[in-house]
Amino acid sequence: MPLDHAQPQTIFLKDYEAPAFAVESIALCFDLREKGTRVLSTMTVVRQSENMPNLVLDGDPQMDLLSIKLDGTPLPAGRISRAGEQLTIKDMPASGVLEIEVEIEPQNNARLEGLYKSGGNFCTQCEAQGFRNITFFPDRPDVMTRFTVRIEADKAAYPVLLSNGNRIEQGDLGAGRHFAVWEDPFKKPAYLFALVAGDLGVLSDQFTTRSGRTVALHIYAKARDLPKCQHAMDSLKRAMRWDEEVYGLEYDLDIYNIVAVSDFNMGAMENKSLNIFNTKYVLADPQIATDTDFDNVEGVIAHEYFHNWTGNRVTCRDWFQLSLKEGLTVFRDQEYSADQASRSIKRIHDVKTLRAFQFPEDAGPLAHPIRPDSYIEINNFYTVTVYNKGAEVIRMMHRLLGVEGFRRGMDLYFQRHDGQAVTCDDFVAAMEDANGADLGQFRLWYAQAGTPELTIEDHWEESTGRYELHIKQSVPQTPGQTEKAPMHMPFLLGLIGPNGQEMDAELVAGEGTRHDAGWLLHIRQSDNRYQFSGLGSRPIPSLLRGFSAPVTIKASLNRADKLFLTAHDSDPFARWEACQDVMIETLLDLVKAVDAGQPLDVGQDLIDACEKILEDAQSDPAFAAELMTLPGEAYIGQMMDVVAVDAIHHARIHLRHVLAHALESHWRRLYREMTDTVFGLSPEQKSRRALKNVALIYLAALGDNETARTHYAQSNNMTDRLAALQVLVNGSDDAARDAAFADFYDRFEMEDLAIDKWFALQALSDKPDTLKTVRTLRNHSAFSLRNPNRLRALVGSFASGNQLRFHAVSGEGYAFLSDIVKHVDQLNPQTAARLVLPLIRHERYDPVRAGLMRKQLQALLNVDGLSKDVYEIVSKSLMTKEIS
Ligand code: TRP
Ligand code: ZN
Repeated sequence: MPLDHAQPQTIFLKDYEAPAFAVESIALCFDLREKGTRVLSTMTVVRQSENMPNLVLDGDPQMDLLSIKLDGTPLPAGRISRAGEQLTIKDMPASGVLEIEVEIEPQNNARLEGLYKSGGNFCTQCEAQGFRNITFFPDRPDVMTRFTVRIEADKAAYPVLLSNGNRIEQGDLGAGRHFAVWEDPFKKPAYLFALVAGDLGVLSDQFTTRSGRTVALHIYAKARDLPKCQHAMDSLKRAMRWDEEVYGLEYDLDIYNIVAVSDFNMGAMENKSLNIFNTKYVLADPQIATDTDFDNVEGVIAHEYFHNWTGNRVTCRDWFQLSLKEGLTVFRDQEYSADQASRSIKRIHDVKTLRAFQFPEDAGPLAHPIRPDSYIEINNFYTVTVYNKGAEVIRMMHRLLGVEGFRRGMDLYFQRHDGQAVTCDDFVAAMEDANGADLGQFRLWYAQAGTPELTIEDHWEESTGRYELHIKQSVPQTPGQTEKAPMHMPFLLGLIGPNGQEMDAELVAGEGTRHDAGWLLHIRQSDNRYQFSGLGSRPIPSLLRGFSAPVTIKASLNRADKLFLTAHDSDPFARWEACQDVMIETLLDLVKAVDAGQPLDVGQDLIDACEKILEDAQSDPAFAAELMTLPGEAYIGQMMDVVAVDAIHHARIHLRHVLAHALESHWRRLYREMTDTVFGLSPEQKSRRALKNVALIYLAALGDNETARTHYAQSNNMTDRLAALQVLVNGSDDAARDAAFADFYDRFEMEDLAIDKWFALQALSDKPDTLKTVRTLRNHSAFSLRNPNRLRALVGSFASGNQLRFHAVSGEGYAFLSDIVKHVDQLNPQTAARLVLPLIRHERYDPVRAGLMRKQLQALLNVDGLSKDVYEIVSKSLMTKEIS
């Protein structure tokens, strides 16, 4: 990068100003060529504010400006100036037509932002600020305009020409070229612009909206991948129906296009009527996709579809409001997925994601509120905090207002803001006004970073039958936020009697209401007391049912209480949580014992509880599989002051070993009982496969190599095949492992998404030579630094998924990562900035590791021409002493 980002600028929310000019319409003409694409833009610009004589447009400093005319006349050099990312037109009249011609080089665009090529096809990615790499424009979401797009290209190489809205014209141009013109009737910000030109096959279908509009649905992909698009199509239709049923929201155009591309920085993009997807979230058939992949495709298809209302019809005023569309849309896709199969398992998965990724972010040097106050590079703020904690904040409002109240709020939100670019405050105001509610204190969730910590004690008074819960909250300090105020949150509570029944009682002190799942308590103060009367015996409290707020809990429950809840809680999430809690407690004890060289004791009570789970597993195999899945090494690390990298690994292996041996006959029985003779994708079949594959892991822990080998040989679908490989890659049978990996490669050589898995699994191995393997794979002919999926598969899996080997005390893992980041940063800064994240929480490690991590971060900071993306992350992580 020739750009010098020595002093990257920080952008602040408090500096927001409304745009000085509106763009009434824009007509774009793309002359797509192999070497150099010309883009002619014609826009009608109208002044909005009297005291702004100049029009400022955004544009990539590298972009070649060929000509610029105002109302048909070329602008003299004195009227324009270019500095950095800005083009200023001096003394702009109150209104005028600007014609700007530029030349860009999509064929050399490795950043994958703006117009670029993937697999020989042209495609775009404009969120957040990619449109400025295509032409000069006020590239901010509160400038919304009407787009007409003409695309000209070689007809043989690019038979398919797509943009947003409706196709209003197409034809031949002679000389082997053709054109198409697309018009989007809806005003939209530039970040929702999209264009695709390529040689693509299409899977078509249609959907009739409940008011009778027929919508043509098209999924475009490489011709050979079309048979893998059916699941995406079915998911799309289900999502369209769901949004009508749950929110009364219908699709608003006659056509909905999805294009799958294999080079993509993120998951997918909701461009108006022309979604562009990473192939990973479109293509699925049982041969190349696991059950989890199927679910992910369904969730992301729904997510992008839901954006049509929450994001496109109502968009963000500025990028600080990103959670307005992302938090809300994640909440909507989570609820959609919960309605498709198992609500409780979906909730468990979502909470696991939040804890695995968002909690560390919220406790680390990059902690930020879901509505950040400042940024250097907005791409760095597409975070699990903005997305997933954002979704939890919406979920809390849903809980506080109830299903109907929330719907009233949504209706009012659309009634007020359809066609506008608005703020998170506007959303909350709609929720308040539709319900006569006061969410004043609740708004703090948008402004305060950090995961609130609840400390809970209880008190039982036998003589009066009174039970008291004492809940304290504190919000930890985060960078730039040392003073925190208490938050308002819903706390779902159940009281459970000696036989496991829900106890009836009266809430006589403290704020709360009855709820289907017990009591909905309101926490508002630092110190909160709730008193129940009318209880015949001491209840066991089921705390934070459904994970009703994104917080951590320290409670005075003892191990026996937790195991009681594991057996009896009627709230599935709380049951799972109680079981995981005991496992964590056990693992932390084992870690201490490993460190002290003491004997390792698991505790018969946990084994008994697990036996009970396996005895009852038939009724809900997937749930049993969740219960029996041990907390991951990284999550155990989060529970410690200093991450004990090696001891955690040993402790976890030990616990698995003990549970495998003690329950061997159950594992063997379940492995048999959960094996279906015919493959199918029904929720029941997926559920049985999940438990079968957990059983496989425990059987392997018995030293049984044979089962995994046979499992691989007999697998007829990717879920089973991968489960076998996962076991083999960590097992002791090297020959079986090598044979299986070789077979897998040969079988799927042509399937990029399967080969990604092949890279990832090897990078996740706990074998001591894993880094060596990863280094070899980096030079594999199928590896490329230019393809984000492949990079994430190999490097991302190793650095963020293999705590044991990435954090090898030699520091070699850190050196490997920083070298890769340095190279990727030259090509694709956005992806480089994500890859570097496993290095930033150095304060959590022992002094040796922490020093080695900082050394690599420092080396990155010294790289000439480092992107502002990586600069922001690395510099913030070196500046901030971790507060926790
Ligand atoms: N808006 C997209 C989504 O959540 C996210 C996205 C896709 C994105 N591509 C991107 C964000 C590139 C930043 C940069 O659905
Ligand atoms: Zn989104």
